[in-house]
Amino acid sequence: MATVRIGIVGLGTFGINHLRCFRQLGYGGQAELVAACDINEELLQQRRQGFEFTAYTDYRQMLADEQLDAITVVTPDPLHKQIVLDAAQAGVHILCEKPLDVTVAGCQEMIDACEAAGVLLMVDFHKRYDEYHLAMKQKIQAGDLGEIEYGYAYMEDRIEVPRDWFPGWAKNSSPAWFLGIHFYDLARFLIEANGKAVWATGATGRLAELGIGGYDSISAKVLFKGGATVAFDTSWILPDAFPAIVNQGIRLVGTKGLLECDSQDRGTLTSCTDDTPGTQTHNQSFLRLRYDKQGREVWEGYGMASIADFVSNVEVLLEGGTLADLGDYPSGSDGLEATKIAAAVHKSLETGGLVGV
Ligand SMILES: NC(=O)c1ccc[n+]([C@@H]2O[C@H](COP(=O)([O-])OP(=O)(O)OC[C@H]3O[C@@H](n4cnc5c(N)ncnc54)[C@H](O)[C@@H]3O)[C@@H](O)[C@H]2O)c1
Repeated sequence: MATVRIGIVGLGTFGINHLRCFRQLGYGGQAELVAACDINEELLQQRRQGFEFTAYTDYRQMLADEQLDAITVVTPDPLHKQIVLDAAQAGVHILCEKPLDVTVAGCQEMIDACEAAGVLLMVDFHKRYDEYHLAMKQKIQAGDLGEIEYGYAYMEDRIEVPRDWFPGWAKNSSPAWFLGIHFYDLARFLIEANGKAVWATGATGRLAELGIGGYDSISAKVLFKGGATVAFDTSWILPDAFPAIVNQGIRLVGTKGLLECDSQDRGTLTSCTDDTPGTQTHNQSFLRLRYDKQGREVWEGYGMASIADFVSNVEVLLEGGTLADLGDYPSGSDGLEATKIAAAVHKSLETGGLVGV
């Protein structure tokens, strides 16, 4: 198989997982981490300590100088679009972090640019790669639930995420854009229907007190085409003492049965140490570290699987396959449909009423 030549744009908190993924795909020659870019020079130099790549502070320069097959976009939510448009023009395949864009028109522009250039556009909706969510999907497809009538999903971060990870851009995002988007997409994936209408409420206060601003929490009820409704609670103000960085789960109820998944506390690993308050629960399904026989770091879990799947897709294309040969993957249009729901959630917050998706 061809070795996929990769570049990364954005090496912040989540960018490190892209670095890890491509480094380990290099062990067997599936990918080569050729170049990476961040506008923060200090961070760029710091990241070079654990990873080998040609460093850039300007992604356009990276696209121009390197013969890349693909890039991944890991910049803040509102900054994905221009990078994707430029990458499409340069003819490279693209994995974009979620949300694809924070406007519906922006998503459409990105999809059109990628279609015109004939390049792959994939969105990193890794909840679709969680083995437990895949088990839910199999049961739904087998007809175990009958017709899905309603459901409930929640995703909540500890307050350190907006407060310590990205206080600068948290107010330009929201619990709906940053967290809800994962579960809007997951519900679409499981129910196999797009959103039709939304009613949402939001609360402010805690982040305003800290001078960060924006919504603390957003609750949305989404009606899907086909008739199912799902209530989504999202927030990023859980206390520092909460036993995990993220709390998340989903339940769906149909005419013949129900499925419930606690996607946070898998019930398998807890710890209590001097370094962290109280007892911590660990979602090993997301990211877990092991060392191979040569003592090299290998990261596993659905957080890696979705990025690695992008590389497998690009391999197929480099071997002469077409986009139609790739089967199921979170595509640009999935990114668009999830953004339509998030945008409708925010419109409902502004208008206070029911909004069409
Ligand atoms: N899939 C997931 O579960 C997951 C988890 C966390 C974050 N994310 C997404 O990943 C993206 C990044 O989030 P983060 O937490 O890593 O943010 P971050 O702020 O920690 O990192 C973003 C990085 O992008 C860099 N950057 C900004 N503009 C740039 C440009 N034009 N060129 C190059 N670099 C640029 C910044 O300097 C920063 O280092 C967001 O879209 C976020 O929603 C996804």
